[in-house]
Amino acid sequence: MFDNFLGKFSHDIGIDLGTANTLVYVRGKGIVIEESSVVAINKKTKQILAIGDDAKKMVGKTPSHIVAIRPLVDGVVSDFEVTEQMLRYFIDKVHRKSFAFLPRPRIVIGIPYGVTEVERRAVEEAAINAGARQVFLIEEPMAAAIGARLPIQDAAGSMVVDIGGGTTEVAVISLGGIVASTSLRIAGDEMNEDIIQYARDNFNLLLGERTAEEIKIKIGSAYPAGKEQKMKMRGRDLVTGLPKEIIVNEEQMRTALSKSVGKIIEAIKETIEETPPELLSDIMKRGIILTGGGALLRGLDTLISRSTSNAVHVADDPMTCVVRGAGAVLEDIESLKEILLPTQYEKIPK
Ligand SMILES: Nc1ncnc2c1ncn2[C@@H]1O[C@H](COP(=O)(O)OP(=O)(O)OP(=O)(O)O)[C@@H](O)[C@H]1O
Ligand SMILES: [Mg+2]
Repeated sequence: MFDNFLGKFSHDIGIDLGTANTLVYVRGKGIVIEESSVVAINKKTKQILAIGDDAKKMVGKTPSHIVAIRPLVDGVVSDFEVTEQMLRYFIDKVHRKSFAFLPRPRIVIGIPYGVTEVERRAVEEAAINAGARQVFLIEEPMAAAIGARLPIQDAAGSMVVDIGGGTTEVAVISLGGIVASTSLRIAGDEMNEDIIQYARDNFNLLLGERTAEEIKIKIGSAYPAGKEQKMKMRGRDLVTGLPKEIIVNEEQMRTALSKSVGKIIEAIKETIEETPPELLSDIMKRGIILTGGGALLRGLDTLISRSTSNAVHVADDPMTCVVRGAGAVLEDIESLKEILLPTQYEKIPK
């Protein structure tokens, strides 16, 4: 009762605490923060210098006593303290804009499917320490499916593939539960690694991580479509140690990316094999839905469609599906509470 009362005044928020990006949704307002999950720290003084996009700009460019940390690795908390500070920063940013005397917020956070209880608690504790009054956890594929407006509570199968920075999660959902799923620690980051390795193996060229990501976003592709583009790739010549520039094309990037892309497709096929046939027919009707930033890789939908003989659709605004799903839960916690995960600090309201 009292909590419902508080709920009217606090800015309840939904968070997608991703390996690459953190997004925050405020009830009644929509998405208010969309920033990189990076924190820059002075190693000598332990002082935080920047958080979010400002910190990402520093990646690979810091002097030796400054480190730009990604506190989440493969979707799970790897640096607890820094994750907590990052969360506090984002929560404060939302709260500071309004009145300081607002009650602390209730928070819905997406976490990868199949993480351990210890990993789950780490997220929950970080959120409580960062100022949450109550925390609800939701599995990311479920949140992604809600965000993509799939009818998850129906007695019909929906398949969602969420390709983020650290993890790819494939899930078949029916009647508000996950029926079959595969999670692999290969996604956007690994695609960047593919490009770095390709440049090293073929051109003796050492690329930075951000350069590799830029190339992936500009000319990366999984399947040929339309006019093939080219781009300059700049880095250091591993033989001479001097700067070097090479022109690469989409075809070469397809070869480079095929390593990670192939594994993602394998995971989708494995999940299809585990799916009961009745649900498969629903999935055939509706198609497989792609979410997460990795879904934006050109031609990935076509390649997945050809490899699985199934229709494939990229969700609208795929990078915001998880946070929009978390937001939808906030707006309607009563009817969606069954799909939330149990938490330790407070029981899900009955
Ligand atoms: N146009 C694009 N083409 C290919 N990849 C892209 C594109 N835009 C963004 N990405 C990639 O998407 C990834 C980030 O996606 P997203 O924000 O969904 O991840 P995340 O939720 O932070 O990570 P995770 O879910 O694994 O914890 C990055 O690896 C980024 O390089
Ligand atoms: Mg994600």
